[in-house]
Amino acid sequence: MIVLGIESSCDDTGAAIYDSERGLLANGLYSQVELHARFGGVVPELASRDHIRKTMPLVRQVIADAGIGQDEIEGVAYTAGPGLIGALLVGAAIGRGLAMGWGVPAMGVHHMEGHLLAPMLEPQPPTFPFVALLVSGGHTQLVRVDGIGRYELLGESLDDAAGEAFDKVGKMLGLPYPGGPHVAELARQGRIGQFEFPRPMTNRPGLDFSFSGLKTFARTTIADRTQDGVLAEQTRADIARAFEEAVVATLVIKCRRALEQTGLRSLVIAGGVSANQRLRQVLEENLAKINSKLFYARPELCTDNGAMIAYAGCKRLLAGQRQDLVISARPRWDLESLPEIHASSA
Ligand code: KG4
Ligand code: ZN
Repeated sequence: MIVLGIESSCDDTGAAIYDSERGLLANGLYSQVELHARFGGVVPELASRDHIRKTMPLVRQVIADAGIGQDEIEGVAYTAGPGLIGALLVGAAIGRGLAMGWGVPAMGVHHMEGHLLAPMLEPQPPTFPFVALLVSGGHTQLVRVDGIGRYELLGESLDDAAGEAFDKVGKMLGLPYPGGPHVAELARQGRIGQFEFPRPMTNRPGLDFSFSGLKTFARTTIADRTQDGVLAEQTRADIARAFEEAVVATLVIKCRRALEQTGLRSLVIAGGVSANQRLRQVLEENLAKINSKLFYARPELCTDNGAMIAYAGCKRLLAGQRQDLVISARPRWDLESLPEIHASSA
């Protein structure tokens, strides 16, 4: 089955063509980073308007890149939530409308399910069951995954998401939005052990996270070390390094705990922060010690993209699920509420 996927939940317009027989045929992305940069964060109304401008040209581009005719598309998947409601509605209206016009079924996809399944697009995909660490700009969750739609939430952030903490600390360090990749880049010049950031909620049991304290700790540290309005370049990098180490260490402790608790031996990391090299490296070292395996997607499939939506939508369409004719989106949407797909159809 050939499926067009559309992603528009936040500040990236993504479109992709996935074929259940041949794999990913085309993947296009238009990032709105420059549009929002001067505001230091995403402006929802500007995001919606830009999705309106960019989605159809991107859809045409991926159809051409895939080397197919539009009449070969057998289903349309779009992100139906969670995310910014205006942005979501653009993708939902276009996706639903195209499907109706082409006379093919449509599927509204859960954005985090898309992230969670993205590593399935890699040559050596994980097999069920596994533990998934979802780390994006809006979510930090540990999920037990027994199949598509068989999700049990093991823990989540009680306040900021890991990506959000990266973005806020990036802003404090004077780095462009989104801060995550820039903090990671700056941390490379940083020396380990110059600052000791806390590892929040690791010395008590449970799998929940809290990242807002780390952000406050960063703010205080930066203020302490700023003299006459100047923070020395090396100190800036050392702070970035210490912050990244603290986030990584905290995530690693909770992932190990989740594997122990479930008795599972595969960990999937997904979402924008899973592109972080240091997180991958430390997790890989740790999991090797406990005879467990780490799975992740290539960097462009970790951050928001249309490919993961096309893939998740294709799985659900193949299982016979269909979106009704109503154009709808949900800014909040519980991952555990998704219907299950039985192994035979997945
Ligand atoms: O999954 P995603 O693209 O969008 C959401 O669904 O939120 O995640 C974006 C988040 C941003 O907070 C961004 O700063 C973070 O992922 N991010 C990173 C890295 N690349 C992206 N954080 C740390 N290190 C990275 N290399
Ligand atoms: Zn995302």
